[in-house]
This record gives sequence, C-alpha cells and structure tokens, in this order.
Amino acid sequence: MKESSVKKIAVLTSGGDSPGMNAALRAVVRTASYYNIECFGVREGYNGLIHDDFIKMGPRSVKNIINEGGTILKSARSKEFMTKAGRKKAYENCVKHEIDALVCIGGDGTFTGAKIFNEEFGIKVIGVPGTIDNDIFGTDNTIGYDTALNTAMEAIDKIRDTATSHNRVFFVEVMGRDAGFIALNSGIAAGALDILIPEKKDSLKDLFATFDRAEKAGKSSSIVVVAEGEQLGNIYELSKATQEKFPDYDIRVAVLGHIQRGGSPSCADRVLASRLGYGAVIGLMKGKSNVMAGMQSNKLIFTPFETAIVKHNEINQDLLKISEILAI
Ligand code: F6P
Repeated sequence: MKESSVKKIAVLTSGGDSPGMNAALRAVVRTASYYNIECFGVREGYNGLIHDDFIKMGPRSVKNIINEGGTILKSARSKEFMTKAGRKKAYENCVKHEIDALVCIGGDGTFTGAKIFNEEFGIKVIGVPGTIDNDIFGTDNTIGYDTALNTAMEAIDKIRDTATSHNRVFFVEVMGRDAGFIALNSGIAAGALDILIPEKKDSLKDLFATFDRAEKAGKSSSIVVVAEGEQLGNIYELSKATQEKFPDYDIRVAVLGHIQRGGSPSCADRVLASRLGYGAVIGLMKGKSNVMAGMQSNKLIFTPFETAIVKHNEINQDLLKISEILAI
C-alpha cells in the first residue's frame, strides 16, 4: 500500500461499552504501527479529547487485552461534547497533538458526535461499531453483540432450570433500549414461550392467548423474554397484568441488566473487532472519512455516518415466525 497521508491518529471508545472493544483497540493500534502511523489512545471517550487525556500507544500497550471485556481506555457518554464549546476544546487538543484522524469505537451516539465534529472542524473521522444492541445499519453484527447474546442465553438457561422445578412463569428482561435483537435471538436460543420486542406490535391480548395455548398444550412453566425497550410496558407492569389475568400462576421477574455488557468477548466478537479495527485504519489510509467500517456478508464495507445513524437494521421476519412456531 502506498504511503498514507494520515500520520497520526487518535482512537477512543465511547457510549455503552461492549465486549470486544479492547480487541478493536488492539487492532487499530497494531495496524497503525504496522503502517508507521503514530497512534494515541484517548481516555473516557470524547471527554478525553476535551480534557487532553491522550496516551501514546504502541503494539505493547495493547498486549493481553484481546480477551478482556470492557475497554482499557474507559468509556463515557460525554455531555460536554454535545456543546459547541466542548467540541472546540476537543479540536484544539487534536491540533496540539497534530492528530490527522480519529477512530471512534461506539454506537450511533458516538457516530453522531463524530459526524458533527468532522463537519465543524474538518478533522477526519472513522467509526467502528461497538455496542451490544446490534442496532447499527451497515454491519451484519456489531462488536459485543455475540458475547451479550451468549451471556443472555446462558442466564435464561439457568432461569429455565429453576422455572421448571417450581412450575413458574418467568419474565426475563434483556438489554436493548431501542432494539430487540438480543431479545429475539436469545429468546429463540433459550426456547422462550414468547418474545416481546419494540420492533413488533405486541398486545396483552396476544400475550394472554399465548399463555392460554401453553396451558392447553400442557406446559407447566414458561419463559417470556422482554426487550428493555418494549413498548407494551415494562417488565413489572407486564408481570402484574399477567398475574391479574392468571391469579394461579406463580410469576417471577428477572432483569439481566449490565451482566450482558461485561465478560470476555466471544471468538466471533474478537475476530469481528480485529477485522473492523484493521479496516478502520485501512479506510483512513485510503482517504475515507465520515464513514463507519462494517462487515456485511463477510466483506469489509464503509457506510456513511448519516446512513449508519439514520437507518436501522431490520428484524428478520422469519425469526419472528420461527419463534412463534417453535413455542407451541
Ligand atoms: O447501548 C447499549 C445499552 O446497553 C442499551 O441496551 C441499554 O439500554 C443502555 O446501554 C444502558 O446504558 P447505561 O449503561 O448508560 O445505563
């Protein structure tokens, strides 16, 4: 590859952390070093840009992190970066360190910030999708999603053991503020009776009909997986309404919460993160900016931020149907 015009880059992790962010960081730092590009890590997301928290990184700064959850750079949802004054300070620090381009690892909030920063100050930016929610358009999977799915599935498996022993109904909430990918896929994998997600119109009538059918089919325990962002109601409201309708049911609620964001990344997440971290640096070297590196059908592709932010990955309708059919 011919000599790159990008000589110095900075990399940060922002928004909700996700397993595999460290593997992505490692890939960015090592790819940059391989191509003789200087690399700085920025601590605590955009806050580090504003408060001049830059650390010089080389291949050895990222040793022994490929298997670590979280992010060694730390992450934040920076309020200050949402202000023009904050972004100006951030830009001044980029100028001070002679940064040519930024690699921003995070979700749609992170990319929105990067896009505005690029438009205001012209600094090159490239995104790497790191979020457990898998709600970013332009990549089949986001970094951390596979690990979170497996964490959720294993937790629901354990709940199933106790649900079965006690003939109980469990409502299990999984993460996904606006998206049902974790709920749908972990629900299918763990054999849920019903799966409630924000992308589909759910009703109490349908939910109760599902319970009626399950009872008639002779089921003595069941699990309903609910995405955090479900529109019908929160998990406590849903469980209360179900208890009122079926007073004999022994119902429990389990909220899996941030356990889904932690842990050692799965093999799939480590490989994805390595490919996308590498891809981001290659993209910058090829002159790309204001885009996100993603993997679609096993190919590295670059999607403009404005598309990645505005569009959303669609829920697979086949999966919805399968989840219903297999729950009979
Ligand atoms: O964006 C990822 C995510 O884990 C969402 O699924 C969840 O709603 C949110 O982050 C929680 O954010 P916080 O850790 O700031 O409470």
